Parts: sequence; C-alpha cells; structure tokens
Amino acid sequence: MFSKRFNLKIHNKIPSFNKTIIVDSDKSISIRSFLIGAISENKSIAKNVLESEDVFSTIYCLKKLGVKIKKLKKKNYLIYGKGLGSLKLKKNGKLNFNNSGTLARLLIGILSTTPGIKVKIVGDHSLNKRSMKSLIELMSKFGASFEPRNKFNFPLKLISSEMPIGIAYTAGVSAQLKSAVMLAGLNSYGNTKITEKEKSRNHTENILLKNANIIKVYEKKEKIIKIFGRKYLKPIDIGIPNDPSSAAFFSALTLLNRDSSLIIKNVGLNPTRTGFYQLLKKQGAKIKFKNLKKNNNELLGDIHVKSCKLKPINASKKYYVNSTDEYPILFIMASLIEGVSTFKGISELANKESNRIIEIQKIFNQVNIKSKASKNEFKIYGRGIIDASNKIINVPNLGDHRICMSSFVFALLTGAEVKIKNFETVFTSSPSFLKIMKNIGAKFETQR
Ligand code: S3P
Repeated sequence: MFSKRFNLKIHNKIPSFNKTIIVDSDKSISIRSFLIGAISENKSIAKNVLESEDVFSTIYCLKKLGVKIKKLKKKNYLIYGKGLGSLKLKKNGKLNFNNSGTLARLLIGILSTTPGIKVKIVGDHSLNKRSMKSLIELMSKFGASFEPRNKFNFPLKLISSEMPIGIAYTAGVSAQLKSAVMLAGLNSYGNTKITEKEKSRNHTENILLKNANIIKVYEKKEKIIKIFGRKYLKPIDIGIPNDPSSAAFFSALTLLNRDSSLIIKNVGLNPTRTGFYQLLKKQGAKIKFKNLKKNNNELLGDIHVKSCKLKPINASKKYYVNSTDEYPILFIMASLIEGVSTFKGISELANKESNRIIEIQKIFNQVNIKSKASKNEFKIYGRGIIDASNKIINVPNLGDHRICMSSFVFALLTGAEVKIKNFETVFTSSPSFLKIMKNIGAKFETQR
C-alpha cells in the first residue's frame, strides 16, 4: 500500500514560470468524509478524494472495523455506512494510524464511545512521539480508558466506554480535539456542548450540518456547537475541494521567485483555512481569490498569485489557528524576505509531525540564517533571496511532509544543495507534489 523509501537532492534554482495547476484534494475533508460516512446510515459518496497515504490509512482502519469501501471511478468512493455505534473489530485487533494525527484523534473519538471496543493503537515513528495527553483526558471524560495508564503516546490500548455520556468542553486551537469530542458525542447519551475559544477549521461541523436534529451551531459572540447524541446520521454525498495547505507551497514559491505567476484551480477557501493567504495579503502580497463558489457548505475558488516584493511577516497569535499547517513554509519565506519576521502563539508546532520550530531552525543554521526561538515565539532575521549555491543542507528522516516540502522550496529559490531523506513522507498529503513541481520547471534527483 505504501510507497518505497527514497531520498531527494535539489541543487538548481527554478526559472521563472507562468502556469495553471491543480493541487491534491483536501486531506482534512477526505479523512472526515470516510470516517463520517462509515458511521452514517446506508451508502455515502465521497468525490475527488485525496488518494494519499493518510487517507489510505483511514480506509485501511475502517475496513478492519468492518466497513465496506468501494472505489468507483477515479477519486470517487462509495462508503457502506454501518451506523452509529456499530464499528466492530476482530478479537485482539490492532489499528495502525501510520503518520496521521487527524485519523488517530478523530477515529479514537468515534471508537471511545462505541461499546465493545478493545484495541491496540499505534502509529509510525513520528506519530508515536506525539503527545495524545489532551485527547486521552477528554475521552476519559466520556468513560473510555487507555492502557498503560499515565502513558500519553502510542502504542496504547483503547477500551471504549460502555455507557458514554455527553460532556461540556471549551475548545482551544486544535480542530482535531474539537472534532474528536464532536464525534464521541454522536454516540453518547444526552448532549455534548463545545464552546469554541478559537475558531479552528470547521469541516466536521460542515459535513454533519445536514442532520439538523443532531447538530446545532450558534455563532454569536462565541461559537457554540451542540451535539444531540444517539440518533441516526444521514448518508453524505460530498465533493472535496483541493487543499489550500498543499497550494501554499506553490504560492510561496511563486511570490518569491522572479517574474512568475500561477493560477491554482478549485482550492478550498474556507476562512478557517486561509490564514496563510490572509496574512500575506495584509503584507501586500499579490494574491487574489477568483471564481468563488460554495459546495457542501465549503467555499472554494481559484487562487491567482504573482511574484512581488514582500515585507517581513508579522504573525500575531490570532493567525495561528487558521494557518496551523503553513508555518514551516512561512518560516522559509521569512528567511528569504529582508528584515525581521516575528511569529507568535506557536507553541503547538512542537507537537506536529516533528518539532517544526526546531527542525526549521536546524535548516537555517546550515546556511547561517539567524533566528531566535522561544517556546511561543520565533524571530527570523531574513536576508532577502540569498544565493546559497555553495551551501549544503541535510534534512534527516523526520516523517514530516511539510518540512520536506518547505526545504524543497528553499532549495529552488536559493540554489542550495538540499538533500532530503525519506521524501516519500510527502505522499501522506501531496502525492502530486513532485509532478507539479516538475511541470512548473523544478529540477531534482531521486535516490533510492
Ligand atoms: C487538522 C488539524 C490541525 C492540523 C492538522 C489537520 C484537522 O491539527 O495541524 O494537519 O484535520 O483537524 P491540530 O488539531 O493539532 O491543530
């Protein structure tokens, strides 16, 4: 199922380009569509699904839980829903989430309130390092337990609640935790109430919204989500937009390259996901959203980007939640813009696929780019586009797709020789990344 390991070497600047591209489909919405389809009644359809490793891991886990999933034509899938509380695992079964934190947290949300589940849960070397403490504490409130006690990372054993009862939860920046609570609430007695302090991505709400008797979202001064548990979920029929987080790498490259422009088609532009674009537009970047439409409660359209001179980036805490996944590429951009860029409210980046502040800093250190990191703030002393063709950067095997793609972009803009180990991890989110890069003129060598 998974791609062979390979390393990548990039050692050439990219020439100017002028292209229209289509990036991979949205990862968050693809994973949610399969999970919610599996616990809905009857047959659900998901179209333009992201065919990446995180999504294949989702399909694989659901099949182990007895869900039939059939591929129709290209990128369209049929999910034979089993209904709420009906997922079942074979005795002594094990679920492997591989690299996907989203799959891990959301599926644990579902399974924690599915009676009769006793399962070993595990991830790859990157996921096994990530703390699941907050998730474990929340699911324990629903009555689930995890063994060994007081251990907060995988491998673990999950024992579901036999009598789950809804909880009240004040959500912070994590959409995965918010979604896990919503999904756990679906099969719990009574109501689950979530008060959102930060408006994190709302795809789970958007997919569930057509079940007016199950979910109510109140958006006044603060956002409140109410889940009324133990009812039937209607099947879904969803067309998935392309991924704004995958588009960010190509947008960053275009903005900083000479005389270049790019149109990226049919990208999800849900405001809870476009912090990266909002932040750069505020700094004067040439970015336009065109052809806007709405599909399944999700806004989408085309992104038009043109190269331009950028001011240093000043990202206050409020940008974090809507550009969570774009920080590695924003850091790379900041290093190539003249002046001091500052990023605040970023402590959560330490618990992503790798510690993204430390790992980007290690890249900067190899090319003498000055930066200062504290727990919640990162300052980057950008020198403008440097010529680093006499420098070598080594990126180790971190199991972090976004660090790989960010260092790739750095190489294309500076000419540095960048050697990236285990580049196949990019296939967790963006299987077309290299093909699109090649199409717009990037040169690279793969080494098995
Ligand atoms: C995601 C939420 C974010 C993000 C991740 C996908 C989701 O994680 O970084 O890539 O699909 O809900 P957190 O919830 O940990 O912020």
